[in-house]
Amino acid sequence: MASVLVVGGGVIGLSIAYECRKRGFEVTVIESGQCGGQASGAAAGMLAPYSEITEDPDDFFRLCQKSLELYPDWVKEIMQSSNETFEYSRCGSLYAIYHEADLLSLESKQRWQREYGIESYLLSGDEAREREPLLSEDIYAALWCPEESHIYAPGYVLALIKACRNSGVNILDNAGEAELVNGENHQIKTDKGIIKGEHIVLATGAWSRNWEKELNCSIPVFPIRGQICAYKGPELRHIVFTSQGYLVGKENGTLIAGASEDIAGFDTSVTSHGINRLESWSQHVLPELQQERPFHKWAGLRPATQDGFPLIGKVAQKPTILIAAGHYRNGILLSPVTAVIIANEIEQLPQEVPIESFRPERFQFV
Ligand code: GLY
Repeated sequence: MASVLVVGGGVIGLSIAYECRKRGFEVTVIESGQCGGQASGAAAGMLAPYSEITEDPDDFFRLCQKSLELYPDWVKEIMQSSNETFEYSRCGSLYAIYHEADLLSLESKQRWQREYGIESYLLSGDEAREREPLLSEDIYAALWCPEESHIYAPGYVLALIKACRNSGVNILDNAGEAELVNGENHQIKTDKGIIKGEHIVLATGAWSRNWEKELNCSIPVFPIRGQICAYKGPELRHIVFTSQGYLVGKENGTLIAGASEDIAGFDTSVTSHGINRLESWSQHVLPELQQERPFHKWAGLRPATQDGFPLIGKVAQKPTILIAAGHYRNGILLSPVTAVIIANEIEQLPQEVPIESFRPERFQFV
C-alpha cells in the first residue's frame, strides 16, 4: 500500500489524512505541537463564503462553494467515523448594512449569487429585525443567505483526530520542527525520528514559508492575526456579518465576535486596541451588548498568501511533495474540498473544480 505523510495537524492536514486513509493509503500525520493547536482550534468556525467574499465570483469562490456543498455529508461521515458529535448549525446568515450608499453593492452581490444558484434574499431593515430582533434599529438592509452555516471548531478538530485514529491514521504529535532529509523527497526528519512517505503533503498553515529553502520555490504565506472575543449570550438566530466583522452564537451559549486582521508576525496575544474595536462594533450591531463584557479573548494566525488564493497541489520540481496551505479566512470551510483535491492529485484523478489558480508553482522564484 502506498504511503502518505502529512506534515501539520490542523484541520487541513487532518482532513487530507482522513481522505487519503479512506482511499487506502497508509497515512502518518506529524504535528510539531498539538493537533489543532493553532488557527484551526481558534477559529469561529464560519462556513460562510457568500458573506466572506464580497468581490465577483472567481475560482476561489467556486472552491468555497464546492466545499460548502460537501459539508453536510462530510460532517456526517466524520461524526460516524469518530463516534463524536459536534455543533454544525445551518442557521443562515444576515449581512447587514447601515447606509443607503451600501445598498448598490449588496444588490450586485445578490445578482451574481443568484447566477451561481445561491439562495439569497434582500431584506429591508425592518424585515431583517423581524428575523433577528436583537439587531440595532440603525440597520438599513440585509442580505439573508439561508445556506450559510457554522461549526464548533474545537469539536470538529477533536472529531477529525478521532476519525483519523479510528480509521488507522498514525498521528505523531509533539514531533518538533519537521525538515526534509537532505536531498530526499520522501523523508522527513522530526524529533520522533525520520518518517518516510511516498507522497509528502505540507499542511503547515502560517508557517509554510519555512519550506521555501528546502524546496527551492517561493511559498509566500504569512500570518495575519485574528483577534476574537466571546460573550455569554445573548442568543442569535443567524450569523450576523457587517463590513467590520461577524457575530456568531454557539449552542453552548457563547456569542463570538470576530475578528481583527492585524500583522503581528507570529504573536498570538490579544491587544486592547483590537478587542476594544470589536467591543464597540459589537455594541453597535447588538445594543444588548452595551451592558456586557467579553469573558474570553484569544487570537489565531490565519495563513494569508500574496494573491489571496490558497496553495493546493504538487510542487512542480518535486511532484512527490504537495502543498495545502494559505487558506487564510476559510481553512475550516475549505477542509473537505482541499482533502478531496489533494487525494485526487495523489491518485492522478480528475478534479471536480478548477484548481489551476491554486497551483503552488504560480509563485516560482524568478
Ligand atoms: N473566517 C473568519 C475569520 O477568519 O475571521
